[in-house]
Amino acid sequence: MSAPPKTVLTASPEEAAAIRAAVRTPDLSAFGGLAVVAAPAHAPALTDLLADPAVSDPIYDLPRPITLDSVTAWIQATEALRQQGEALLLVTLDATGRVAGYSRFTIWPELASAEIAGARRADLQNAGSGGAGAARSFDWMFETLGVRLIGVTAARDNVRSARVIEAAGFAPMGERDSLRPDGTLRPSLYWEMTRQAWRARRLKA
Ligand SMILES: CC(C)(COP(=O)(O)OP(=O)(O)OC[C@H]1O[C@@H](n2cnc3c(N)ncnc32)[C@H](O)[C@@H]1OP(=O)(O)O)[C@@H](O)C(=O)NCCC(=O)NCCS
Repeated sequence: MSAPPKTVLTASPEEAAAIRAAVRTPDLSAFGGLAVVAAPAHAPALTDLLADPAVSDPIYDLPRPITLDSVTAWIQATEALRQQGEALLLVTLDATGRVAGYSRFTIWPELASAEIAGARRADLQNAGSGGAGAARSFDWMFETLGVRLIGVTAARDNVRSARVIEAAGFAPMGERDSLRPDGTLRPSLYWEMTRQAWRARRLKA
């Protein structure tokens, strides 16, 4: 459902192959043991997480309706894409091992570009930690997956997401329509960030 960024980069064959390899066998050490690649065994816990509208309502690219079957199929479909180096579904855990959220990455290796969508469990939201979690994911996409451009979208009324995205330094680039799995369109705000800009901000910080 995801659309590649508006800005079009071109990866060399070597760069694209390196990105695909990084997606196929992801190094998750940056997440300190609190993120794992989603497997069918996570389907019940992910279904519980996503059944909460506070978690799933703002997200356009989830399977609907959210049921054990649809979430299992989504995990399996993303796993097939991971093996091609084009998508990755991570489950994040809290210190007790409970599912605390998820992140889904769509990667376009030939464009050296990626998108991320994700959510935190409702009881973990609004605690002021969204920015740090998002920054860790953006850093991982640039430095471990090796993409040079990230595009992100948020529903027009998703104030928290917009705040987190702009605090990370993403540049607003207007709006775009996001295609839901059922074929309908969701109007979204849209931002991009390059790896060069990300690294420059980190040097200044
Ligand atoms: C989006 C999400 C990851 C943010 O994480 P979070 O831990 O809830 O966010 P925070 O508590 O850190 O708040 C984010 C920012 O929004 C601000 N904020 C929160 N509510 C606000 C409001 N009503 N008006 C203005 N700002 C608001 C916070 O002050 C914070 O800004 P700051 O860091 O400058 O203080 C989380 O809320 C979530 O999972 N939401 C549901 C799914 C979702 O929307 N996913 C993103 C799809 S693009």
